Amino acid sequence: MIKDYIREDLQEFIPYHAPVKEYDIKLDANENPYPHNEKIISEAKKWLEDCNNLRRYPDTDCNELRETLAKYWQVNKENVICSVGSDQLIDSLLKVFLEPEDKVLMPTPSFSMYKLATKLNRGTPIEFNLNDDFSYDVNKIIDLYHKEHPKCVFICTPNNPTGNIITDNDVEKLLNVIKCPLIIDEAYGEYIEESMIGKVKDHENLIVLKTFSKAYGLAGLRVGYGIASKSMIDAINIVIPPYHLNALSQFLARTVLENDAEYDNKIKEIVRNRKWLSDNLQTIKYVEKVYPSYANYLLIKVSDYSIVEVLENKRILVRGYGEQGELANCIRITVGTEDENKKLIKEMKKYLDLPR
Ligand SMILES: Cc1ncc(COP(=O)(O)O)c(C=O)c1O
Repeated sequence: MIKDYIREDLQEFIPYHAPVKEYDIKLDANENPYPHNEKIISEAKKWLEDCNNLRRYPDTDCNELRETLAKYWQVNKENVICSVGSDQLIDSLLKVFLEPEDKVLMPTPSFSMYKLATKLNRGTPIEFNLNDDFSYDVNKIIDLYHKEHPKCVFICTPNNPTGNIITDNDVEKLLNVIKCPLIIDEAYGEYIEESMIGKVKDHENLIVLKTFSKAYGLAGLRVGYGIASKSMIDAINIVIPPYHLNALSQFLARTVLENDAEYDNKIKEIVRNRKWLSDNLQTIKYVEKVYPSYANYLLIKVSDYSIVEVLENKRILVRGYGEQGELANCIRITVGTEDENKKLIKEMKKYLDLPR
């Protein structure tokens, strides 16, 4: 039986699947709702028309993309590593640093990949709760660090799915104490216009993770990157497979970054739309709470969870967290275009009028 050959600790593992659902409006994965402009699309077409581009292996070291990113963030190229989504960096960090059963500190609720990747790499996840308003309690993290002696610590800011951030001051406090790799995931960092990347030069153990999947609208091409000390980058490179990031992804990530003004405008628009969406969600009777958010999504708590299915039947997808657990009756809604947000609110309001 093939099952008998599976690693013992993975015998009961359920593979990650994201269901493919039909939709008109997709507000469940924090993607960018705006299409790329003509210039980007025509660059992509030109790239495809050069017959060498598809036949040849990509640059395994992603040199040009790393150069563009280094210039953008005012760091050296040796401080940049590119990956197949930032998911790959999360996995690679754990792969290179963890011995079996080593502990990894991570917030809860937060991005599920930290826990999954820790387990897949034979580590032990140690979760710390966020405060009731989802803010970070750094003293709690520091106490846990002293008690558990973890190999890695994750911080997500803005945190997915709660939308809160960690303050600069709190990161300084962590950096004064934590000596193991400290991973700050800024997948939604573009929405707050600030970053912890500036601290990398003074802290060999800090890595900041970023992605092109969210504000830059390239989720389908899977481009992530990390900024860290050269020694941290060299360590991760040990486990990065050759030719990992395909050539089209490298090219388009670079092109998008070179045209970032367009994306900056959309980021500002999303932030404006978020305020409109938040204000309107608060007027709906069965919405008990709209948590403040610094990202391109809002976490809400509802008194009637069936709204998730009702919206799905209207071909509007949102991310529900079920009726049990720490996020019971919570729903994460990606901020869409003005039009998408209006349609969502309209359907959510209509639901109130339905006979129960
Ligand atoms: C906090 C956070 N980090 C990382 C990722 C992974 O992004 P990528 O598409 O770059 O793998 C996500 C995706 O949802 C995320 O929410």
